[in-house]
Amino acid sequence: MTRRAARVLMVEDTLSIARMTEAFLTQAGYEVDHVETGRGCLAALESDLPDAVLLDVRLPDISGLEVLAHIRRAELPVVVIVATAYGSIGMAVEAMQAGADDFLVKPFNADRLKVTLANALERFSLKTQVQTLKEDFGRATFHGFIGSSLAMQSVYRIVQAAGPTGATVFVTGESGTGKELAAEALHRQSKRANGPFVAINCGAIPHGLMESEIFGHVKGAFTGAVAARDGAARRADGGTLFLDEICEMEPALQTKLLRFLQTGTYMRVGGEVLEKVDARIVCATNRDPLKEVEEGRFREDLYYRLHVIPLHLPALRERDGDVLEIARSLLARFSAQEGKAFEGFTPEAEDLLLRYPWPGNVRQLQNVVLNAVVLNDGPLVAAEMLPPPVNSRGSLPGQVNRATLPPLRAVDNGGAGARSEAGTEAIKPLWQVERDAIEAAITAFDGNIPRAAAALGISASTIYRKKAAWEAGETEAVGA
Ligand SMILES: Nc1ncnc2c1ncn2[C@@H]1O[C@H](COP(=O)(O)OP(=O)(O)OP(=O)(O)O)[C@@H](O)[C@H]1O
Ligand SMILES: [Mg+2]
Repeated sequence: MTRRAARVLMVEDTLSIARMTEAFLTQAGYEVDHVETGRGCLAALESDLPDAVLLDVRLPDISGLEVLAHIRRAELPVVVIVATAYGSIGMAVEAMQAGADDFLVKPFNADRLKVTLANALERFSLKTQVQTLKEDFGRATFHGFIGSSLAMQSVYRIVQAAGPTGATVFVTGESGTGKELAAEALHRQSKRANGPFVAINCGAIPHGLMESEIFGHVKGAFTGAVAARDGAARRADGGTLFLDEICEMEPALQTKLLRFLQTGTYMRVGGEVLEKVDARIVCATNRDPLKEVEEGRFREDLYYRLHVIPLHLPALRERDGDVLEIARSLLARFSAQEGKAFEGFTPEAEDLLLRYPWPGNVRQLQNVVLNAVVLNDGPLVAAEMLPPPVNSRGSLPGQVNRATLPPLRAVDNGGAGARSEAGTEAIKPLWQVERDAIEAAITAFDGNIPRAAAALGISASTIYRKKAAWEAGETEAVGA
């Protein structure tokens, strides 16, 4: 996975483990130095800096955590992976908080070691590039994205830096935040930009057909397979394969995908020969992937394979004034499309747009603006032209209520001193605002969840999932 032989300093006092680990690493093409103590490690770091340190926590002299603290205090540009004993996951968490790049639980196998190390090195080199890109960013648009917020600048930088590397990118974010747009941007920013971009939605295709969708089938593989057919993997050869809603993939297929990622080869359904393709993988989910792993729905080893570069898309409500930038641009686009003469929003309408929590994010904003354009005439979109629940005026039970909202503009930029003491009491936790908005929409549509979901610009399954989470007593504004 790495392009040149990276150097690893292994700190391990148990000789049998050291020998085996060294063998794994050399076999994977790394150069390895070995020390047995914490002090030995510090001395080695002074003389010559490796690319990565593989650090055992329990050492005979000083603890691995102290060595880690020293490395981070001195700001040494080196990847640190901490190895902890089985059953001491608490130690691993402590190490991560202290600045470790990743951790391994002993005993680990060659594959897990290689993947963890390669991913950490990849992320590290990306971080360095992102740092150097910082100056020339301050963009309002980027590959189809609109928005100059700080939160989006870091998305643009990661896409800019990660695009050309060919590394696997794991995109997360609530529904409608632009995950697919990000995948396309990564493709266009890559050396494969002239190759195909093939998107496949693992949540939309029935489980029984999914394997053939990805890997294709041979003639006669199943009833109805009257001719051989290429799958998405083959069609993405030389380009990018976007696996959307990856957490919806069933376990048996996860195993086959893992094999494909490990070897670059696969077999068609009903086929007997291995086929090879060269495709860059980008995947996305609106779930919390680690939670899926913890709860046993998503294979841990697949997660590690895919989670090379994480890219999180912030919710629209976390993007300062982006909502207005996007709304104005959409208004111009839809207005032209529909032959209307809209020029902008009234200040009241803009305030509503800024205050609304947008559980369906940009997609919901698109629906709201389109709705206003289609049903009204310009030149300005007024507050009452915005469809519910954005313009609800507190009439629906549990809905975001104008009367209880803090003073105007206090929400969009973190307040900046504009918020009164009395106003702050009315601010609710984000999950509550989101829950209120969803429940109000369900009430408005007489309990018809699919229609409520459509109005909110999110999928019905998102609402079902959130309802289940609330019933289980979870109160975070989790990914939609
Ligand atoms: N920052 C943005 N500026 C302008 N348009 C955007 C932005 N982000 C997303 N969009 C548009 O919003 C729509 C939804 O985006 P996209 O399909 O990429 O979201 P998603 O995160 O994949 O959603 P889901 O989880 O529901 O699949 C698309 O039409 C996309 O072009
Ligand atoms: Mg999507």
